[in-house]
Amino acid sequence: MARTKDQEVWSNIKVKPLWKITVFIYGQAANKFVFTSDSTTLSNQQTQSVRTILGEQNILELSGEDHKRVRGALVSFLKPESLKQYVGKMDEEVKKHLELHWQGKQQVKVRVAPHEDPHIQHNLLTLFGVERGARKDKFVACFQEMIEGMWSIPINLPFTRYNRSLRARTRVQNMVKDLIREKRLELEQKGASTHQDLITCMLSIHNENNEQVITEKEIVDNVILVMVAGHDTSSVLITFIMRLLANEPTIYAAVLQEQEEIKSKPSGEKALKDIEYGGYLIPKGWHVFWVSPMTHMDSSIFPEPSKFDPSRFENQASVPPYCFVASGGGPRICPGYEFARIETLVTIHHQVTHFTWKLCADHSFSRDPMPIPTQGLPIQLVPKKTF
Ligand code: HEM
Repeated sequence: MARTKDQEVWSNIKVKPLWKITVFIYGQAANKFVFTSDSTTLSNQQTQSVRTILGEQNILELSGEDHKRVRGALVSFLKPESLKQYVGKMDEEVKKHLELHWQGKQQVKVRVAPHEDPHIQHNLLTLFGVERGARKDKFVACFQEMIEGMWSIPINLPFTRYNRSLRARTRVQNMVKDLIREKRLELEQKGASTHQDLITCMLSIHNENNEQVITEKEIVDNVILVMVAGHDTSSVLITFIMRLLANEPTIYAAVLQEQEEIKSKPSGEKALKDIEYGGYLIPKGWHVFWVSPMTHMDSSIFPEPSKFDPSRFENQASVPPYCFVASGGGPRICPGYEFARIETLVTIHHQVTHFTWKLCADHSFSRDPMPIPTQGLPIQLVPKKTF
């Protein structure tokens, strides 16, 4: 990489000989660069496994006008005003789960199998409009098999993980296509509400010539993508909040107090042209790997970054711009932010108001690539009150 300016500031840039020449960038300036570059400068690129399993038309693969159009459809469903109608259902799923799997037990695992996961149940209901039952169980099983190969080496031979995952993708796709047919009928013949689920919402968007704006292939690929994007993210976040709260009684007490008060109220990129970045020249075609979490570990921005201290976010104005990037930023900022926030708040609310807990001996975790507790995070429960 040619150097054109001030080397000191950009000492965080590394070039590594991976499969493709890749530049690793991180920090406040890198975040700003990624969030403000338009689609003529950087294009989003996923690995081949992710691309084939999630489908070529999934939003991560789209850019320019296509990205805007599909994103607009997703946002029209995921915006807070339309999510309000799902809070009650989410609350029901979480309560049902805790009553069934936690109440009366001394020890439980925080991370549960997908068919028991209340967030997956809820996502299937809101995104696909699939109620509990045999169809939902089949969906969860195929979905799980599909995502297991997402990060696998793309060798498509019988019995490889990738091949199993591709076959599961075909089954999920067929199920989504059946649902699209049913939802279209419901819309046309029964006057169903356009926001009853994500599929119906995407089907019902038309332009001024009354043509459907989102194609069937785009609907299939993007409901699958949203299911994946909203699955491990929220469940890993909740699992780690529980892991951290177990060892922080003061923070647990503060969260509980806040929740009791609520109760009492009614309420991977690619350079498309030569880019000059931070005094260096990144040639066209090189890969730019944006290492987003590293900014959060920079002690000059977040003192004692490893310490669990939610109070550091109380004064939002104290966080410099482009530094808190958990939901990304710019035109690709996470559209599921409110969805994840509601899911997390509802779950933590019921957990802290009904239980206290202690970690059991093995609370280690490994990366897959998400951090996943090795033994499912077993905890000892101390009940406070029944539901
Ligand atoms: C704790 C939970 C979550 C976290 C930390 C998270 C984080 C992120 C981040 C960092 C991005 C930007 C990726 C990039 O710039 O390349 C993103 C994109 C996205 N997220 Fe989330 N997410 C979460 C939950 C969700 C949920 C619940 C949904 C859907 C219901 C969702 C749907 C999406 C979609 C569709 C995109 C792609 C947006 C685009 O390319 O325009 N996410 N998410």
